[in-house]
Amino acid sequence: MRTLEVKRQLDSDDLEAVRKLLEVAERADGHQAVDEHRWLDMAQGGRKSFAGLVAWESGHHHPVGYTQVSRGHRSWALDMVIDPHHRLHAASIGPEMLRAAIEVIAVEGGGHVHLWVFQPTPIHDEMAAAIGLRQGRDLLQMRRSLPIEADAPDLALRPFRPGEDEQRWLEVNNRAFEWHPEQGGWDSATLGERLREPWFDPEGFLLHERDGRLAGFCWMKVHPDHHPPLGELYVVAVDPDFQGLGLGRALVVAGLHWLKSQRGLDATMLYVDAAHQRAVGLYQSLGFSVDHLDRAYVGDVAARSDAGHAYGRPHGKGEDGRYQGEEDLSAHGAHERTAGEAPDGHPHQHGGEHGDGQ
Ligand SMILES: CC(C)(COP(=O)(O)OP(=O)(O)OC[C@H]1O[C@@H](n2cnc3c(N)ncnc32)[C@H](O)[C@@H]1OP(=O)(O)O)[C@@H](O)C(=O)NCCC(=O)NCCS
Repeated sequence: MRTLEVKRQLDSDDLEAVRKLLEVAERADGHQAVDEHRWLDMAQGGRKSFAGLVAWESGHHHPVGYTQVSRGHRSWALDMVIDPHHRLHAASIGPEMLRAAIEVIAVEGGGHVHLWVFQPTPIHDEMAAAIGLRQGRDLLQMRRSLPIEADAPDLALRPFRPGEDEQRWLEVNNRAFEWHPEQGGWDSATLGERLREPWFDPEGFLLHERDGRLAGFCWMKVHPDHHPPLGELYVVAVDPDFQGLGLGRALVVAGLHWLKSQRGLDATMLYVDAAHQRAVGLYQSLGFSVDHLDRAYVGDVAARSDAGHAYGRPHGKGEDGRYQGEEDLSAHGAHERTAGEAPDGHPHQHGGEHGDGQ
């Protein structure tokens, strides 16, 4: 028999049990099951609307699954992990946890939801479909070792100057990513949030000017806690007026040299939409290969008012026998993680949107 506990805060026993589950999953997958800042959210008692759903199975002294509900600025993030020894039953454990998570979100007012899955399989597609989430974006994490063989390009670059460069950078970024649902709509608040992140380093945010204009940039990030430390090409873009001139390639090469020569890193990664052939081709030609794929499952959950239901009866259904959230999950643009941003949540923060759980 399986039971599911929906917790607004994990006590020390829960935390220890979930920590072990995450460890086992990480060993099996070679991938962190819940990214660092969401783990901290859990460990430090949970931010507003936090919920941890712990699935137990009789005869086992450890949880068989864990799902975390995290509220972001504009949307909700779900993280789900199933014990590797119980994945044969993933098709029932997963949807049970996810349905309960969707109920929590419905009672908390509903909203846009995304669930990022590391290396999705057809079972994940089924699980997501079972609770009314549809497939959103596929993000590739690509990696390569450093140094890169190519010489550093002869390109004038300077660090981003906080307090001076915001507006021109926003213009170029939004023009280059005009087609992109997330990265294209940045405003000064979005940029300001990133500039205040502890990892932000203006030295690794390189701008190239041409004809008196900002023509392109390469923004790097360092993950010192990764073993071994890992660089990231966080966002790279060239203003549309300067595209196709070799600048994108040069900026990427310059960024890779910076990560090696200035930060001593031996490897780096980036995230890119799997469908963005032009960028994927560029990265492949520079020696990047795919490390893994993350898939977003997305949907919208309607608010429901009967708060008593969801928390008291995590498995429960509405009076009409259906999960309120489920029927209202509809096709909706998958907007969450930004190309160039790590999955904060992607996980790695399946970042940005993904990253901070929004
Ligand atoms: C992706 C991007 C950075 C490339 O910059 P760029 O200056 O246009 O690219 P380059 O001129 O250096 O060309 C790089 C490669 O892109 C490809 N490419 C260039 N122009 C292309 C075009 N019009 N159509 C298809 N592929 C093209 C070529 O394969 C080229 O490789 P090559 O050097 O072997 O010829 C740029 O298009 C951009 O800013 N796009 C919007 C933002 C973005 O998508 N950033 C990456 C997110 S992960």
